[in-house]
Amino acid sequence: MEIIKTKRFVLRTPKMSDAKDVAKNINNKNVSRNLSSAVSFPYVPKDAKQYIGKVLKELKEERPSSFILYIEIEGEVVGSIGAHHIEQGHKAEMGFWLAEQHWGKGIMPEAVEAFMKHVFKKFKLKRIFAKAYAHNKGSMRVMEKVGMEFEGIEKKGALKDGKYLDCYVYAKVK
Ligand SMILES: CC(C)(COP(=O)(O)OP(=O)(O)OC[C@H]1O[C@@H](n2cnc3c(N)ncnc32)[C@H](O)[C@@H]1OP(=O)(O)O)[C@@H](O)C(=O)NCCC(=O)NCCS
Repeated sequence: MEIIKTKRFVLRTPKMSDAKDVAKNINNKNVSRNLSSAVSFPYVPKDAKQYIGKVLKELKEERPSSFILYIEIEGEVVGSIGAHHIEQGHKAEMGFWLAEQHWGKGIMPEAVEAFMKHVFKKFKLKRIFAKAYAHNKGSMRVMEKVGMEFEGIEKKGALKDGKYLDCYVYAKVK
């Protein structure tokens, strides 16, 4: 179990028993509409269990293609940060979400900073990038706050809920 503790939250490896909290907090249109098209809506505990199962299997691999930590506050999983498509020694794509009741308190910038520091080292990365849909100003602010640089727009880079969305690309390079 990997664990990073700060004053306000804990970042730790997912557990199967987190499925209920995860489903509760992702099953919110304001969160879900900003996530990858792989995340369905509605999102139920069975979906979360399936996802956590995959995450835990990957963790056992020598060179995992993804690495996830959950954000826990007062015993509840209220968010997630993940590195995906990991190419060890090179790069990974980051994604994150936070339960709506915790928005606006600077929790995600703090968590993303700690996460990036950890995965830069763990996977010997040179580049961490992330993409936000054009409407998602909150996510862009998080990326700016942690020192990621805006690189450009992937026009119609995503297909979400039947609509083609422009993606804003941000990255931190070492
Ligand atoms: C984006 C997100 C992670 C921000 O996390 P956070 O801990 O609230 O981050 P911050 O407190 O630093 O706020 C960041 C920005 O969010 C916006 N924001 C804050 N509170 C908000 C609220 N209650 N409602 C809507 N937007 C809000 C503001 O633009 C803020 O920027 P500011 O500090 O310059 O005003 C969170 O809103 C979230 O999980 N959204 C849904 C999922 C998502 O978008 N994931 C990212 C996919 S790329």
